[in-house]
Formats: sequence, C-alpha cells, structure tokens
Amino acid sequence: MELKELVLNGSAGRSDILIGRGLLDVAAERCLSVFAPSRVHIVTDSNVAPLYLQRLKNEFTLPVSITVLPAGEEHKRLSAVEGIYHDLLEAGMTRKDLVIALGGGVVGDITGFAAATYLRGVPLCQIPTTLLAQVDSSVGGKTGVDLPEGKNLVGAFYQPRLVLIDPDLLSTLSAGIYADGMAEVIKYGCIANRKILDMISGGDVCEIVYECVKIKRDVVQEDEHDMGLRMILNFGHTIGHACEKLENYVGLTHGQAVAVGMVAAMRLSNALGAPEDLTGPLTACLKECGLPVELRHGREEIYHALLSDKKKFGSVVNFILVRDFGRADIVPIEAERLHQLLMEI
Ligand code: GLY
Repeated sequence: MELKELVLNGSAGRSDILIGRGLLDVAAERCLSVFAPSRVHIVTDSNVAPLYLQRLKNEFTLPVSITVLPAGEEHKRLSAVEGIYHDLLEAGMTRKDLVIALGGGVVGDITGFAAATYLRGVPLCQIPTTLLAQVDSSVGGKTGVDLPEGKNLVGAFYQPRLVLIDPDLLSTLSAGIYADGMAEVIKYGCIANRKILDMISGGDVCEIVYECVKIKRDVVQEDEHDMGLRMILNFGHTIGHACEKLENYVGLTHGQAVAVGMVAAMRLSNALGAPEDLTGPLTACLKECGLPVELRHGREEIYHALLSDKKKFGSVVNFILVRDFGRADIVPIEAERLHQLLMEI
C-alpha cells in the first residue's frame, strides 16, 4: 500500500497522520502499533455505520464497544457527548484504552471532545470519512459541540495521537457532500499553495488530500491554539459563518457557506489593494466543483450576523485576505470600515 505520512508535533506530543488508499482495512494493525489498549470504543453515526463500521470492528481481536450517533449537525450537542460518556463507562473504558472517531466532521468533533474530557483524556484515533474531515477537521485537534447560541462554542484543543485517512472512503459520498469538502480544498489553494487549484480538475485525490493536510499540519504546528497564523484557515469563514447563521444552519451547508464567503473575501481583498482581481478564477473554480458563489442576503444583514461571530475581537474583525493565490494575510479591519467595504463589494 502506498502510504504518505505526516507528523504534527503538538504541545502534548506527536500526532501521526497517515494517508493511503485501503487504510481502513489495516486500521486495527496501525492502531495497535501506536496504542496499547485493552479495549476499543468506536463512535460513528447512522450514515457511516452501515458502510464501514463492521469492517473496522472485525479487524480487532480486542473487545470493541460502539456508539452510533444520529447523523447531522443538529445533533452536535453536549447531550451527545454525555451519551458517549455513559457508553464508555458501561464498556469499562479506562485511560489507556482507545477511542476511535469514524465519520465526518461532526462525529470527529463530538468524539474528540468526549475523548478529551472522559477521565480527563483518553487516547484518540480519527478515521475521517468525508473530504471535509480528511482535509481539515480531523487534523489539528479542534474538538467541540454547538450551543443553541452558536456553533462550536464549547470545546477543547485535543490532538488525536493517530489520524488514518483513507481516500477510498470518499467513493460513497454524495456529490453535495464531496463538493462541501472541495470548498476547503480550494481554501487551501488560495491561502497557501496555488498548485492545489491546478490539481482540482483531474488531480489524484490522494495527492490533493496530502497537500491540504500538509498545509494544515504546518499551520497548526506553528499556532496550535489559534492565536495568530491558524486564523488563515478561516479564509471565507467569517462571512461564511454569518451566512450559515442567517440560514439557521440549514439553508446552506458549511462548504457552500465557505464558498460564498471566499468570493466575498476575495472581493474585499481586491478592494483593499490586490494587484490583480482573483475573483474570476476563484468563482470559476468553485462553480466547476458545484459550489455557489453569490451571497443570498443583504450586506446589512450579513454585517450584523458577522459582528456576533466569536472571531470578532472588540471593534476589530481579523479578516483573512488573499491578494495573490497561495498567500493569505490576516488584516484587522475596524467594524465601521468593514461595514463600509461590505456595502461596496
Ligand atoms: N478548521 C479551522 C482550524 O482547524 O483551525
């Protein structure tokens, strides 16, 4: 099996990230080369369980217990985490046993938070099954759940000791869920490596995932706790989150919101002195991947939704601008000025 390996050296130790087709079939072997558990607990959801759960479970000769969460962002709540704690206790999971998250971003975030907090932390392996989770959320240790007041408002930084990324698992994704992940892929191309944008039409998905994860690894290694550089991963997310919120998190998927957010952020980058207007090529790339490009809400509405986002610090919003493909700048913009700019783009 052709395997690509990356190591993320975090503040609490190393995180091994393996990328290769067919990895799911050797996942247990890979886990047991890193962990020494007496038992394993797999958390997955109702979409992924029928596809991959038995395959993974059958690889282990150790006792395996399971939590199957209902699929969907609306279930990313503290109640889901509490349910996992009860299942872990019932299974007799101790601090040396292994928790595996098998699923997309929601499963990964919930399971990561449960693993970070159960008995003050148990070993964690992420096996992401969506493109979005493979290129972004399974790597870097952000875990957490939503509150009625907003997304990801409760959580912890907790690095998985092992991340197993099998691009073959992407074959069962619907076109819409795949496109969602492509929004994050395009984001990486914009902020750090323009070659990714060329790889999108016709490139090998393994290579694409590897290039994206390499960027994420480098960024997280430099700024694990999101105090500076890591903010560049939010390109398109500031306006994107505002749009998601205005749609009550159901009208737009995360990837669609990021797509329209990136176009708006690119227009803003242009208004703030990009040497070349990159909105056209970005829009073409997003459309090719089946993603939307136009904002569906008025600028005034977007501005107010944006100001309530948690990334606003005081009266200044840290905005991510791309003035050249492959390079991002974190630019603090006064709320008043942002308001004015939003009306102009
Ligand atoms: N998905 C953004 C981050 O991990 O920081």
